Amino acid sequence: MKRLSKSLLFTGLALAWACSPEEEPIVHTPEIHYYTPAISTSLQVAGFPQPERNIISEQGVALGKKLFFDPNLSANGKVSCGTCHTPELAFTDGVSLADHGVSGKKLHRTAPAIFNLAWQSDGLFWDGGAHDLESLNFGPLTHPDEMGADLDALVAYLENELEYKEQFKIVFSQEQIESAQVARALSQYVRTLISQDSKYDRWQRGEESFGEVELKGFQLYQKNCSSCHQEGLFTDLGFHNNGLDEEYPNPPELEGLYQGRYRITSNPEDMGAYKTPTLRNIALTAPYMHDGRFQTLDEVLDHYQNGIQVNETLAPELTWGIKLNSIERDAIKAFLNTLTDSLFIQKHQK
Ligand code: HEC
Ligand code: HEC
Repeated sequence: MKRLSKSLLFTGLALAWACSPEEEPIVHTPEIHYYTPAISTSLQVAGFPQPERNIISEQGVALGKKLFFDPNLSANGKVSCGTCHTPELAFTDGVSLADHGVSGKKLHRTAPAIFNLAWQSDGLFWDGGAHDLESLNFGPLTHPDEMGADLDALVAYLENELEYKEQFKIVFSQEQIESAQVARALSQYVRTLISQDSKYDRWQRGEESFGEVELKGFQLYQKNCSSCHQEGLFTDLGFHNNGLDEEYPNPPELEGLYQGRYRITSNPEDMGAYKTPTLRNIALTAPYMHDGRFQTLDEVLDHYQNGIQVNETLAPELTWGIKLNSIERDAIKAFLNTLTDSLFIQKHQK
């Protein structure tokens, strides 16, 4: 595929050059259907943000979905976005550190859940190093330990597939496919991954009730967890040090990868701070934390109870740990289970 790419690209350019605008045949493309996804009040967000230069359309989302699950975008034809972001696991991959990219090398961070990201437009990745979905997508597409794609070869592949060629033309009204369009279509699809139909949501909307244990768990969550895992999205979209490590080694070849948010801001207060992950679908997204160090929710609760490492940047509310007896622990887990959204999982099967 790589060898072909350049010549195909040049042929494409030559053709585009050869026909003047007047000679372009009139193409009747079906009308594009733009839409805004419906948002439940239980998400507690105002509106649905999307960049003006990439408004969601039905056709764009369908194209993005096809790209998301297409392993042919990768250098070895085996890895798609869906390899590390599987729908059944709320778009995670179930391992601590993936080695299923094209190089087979282990990544340094765990694959986060991919949903409700429309509201995280500034501050994607565990350290917030990516500003928007559109530009983020080039990371996994081209990273040698993820999909390792050569963008020219990628575009050539898409130009050669009739179905893709037609879909791109409809969505972007342009003859020539560009790699930026790949990123845009993927982003349209990702923005429509919205989880808002868990038992918690139905309870919030008055459609279902909580049992006594779930209710107790909710109150414990409000008291101990909601300052960071804020209700609605179940993240404050902020960055905190939740006491995982006492020190943050910095091997030069890793360029601050173990230093969390500090790597991006160089602000000493951000040392060891990571983005608060959502608690939605948490029963499906183990292992936990930026490096997948905990396998179960019990290990996570053990950490908050007894494992907090105290240093200057630790979030102050965690200084003494979060003490829960076994009844309270069961209640919190029961509440966390109400955040599983089976409808979301069903709806977004590959
Ligand atoms: C080999 C595994 C792998 C593949 C393939 C992969 N990702 Fe990821 N993805 C990750 C990891 C690991 C991270 C976290 C990186 C970090 O935070 O430093 C991530 C982070 C993300 C995020 C940020 C989520 C957030 O909450 O900040 C998005 C969005 C995303 N990936 C989308 C994609 C898309 C789209 C593709 C396909 C083009 C893709 N990924 C392919 C492993 C993968
Ligand atoms: C001071 C803010 C803060 C408080 C309070 C807090 N968390 Fe967290 N939580 C975080 C941050 C930040 C992370 C990610 C840390 C990392 O990966 O380095 C996290 C990670 C998690 C994870 C792993 C999620 C994943 O996808 O990997 C779970 C589960 C979790 N917290 C549950 C809880 C529960 C339950 C409580 C209350 C008992 C709680 N947290 C209290 C900030 C907080």
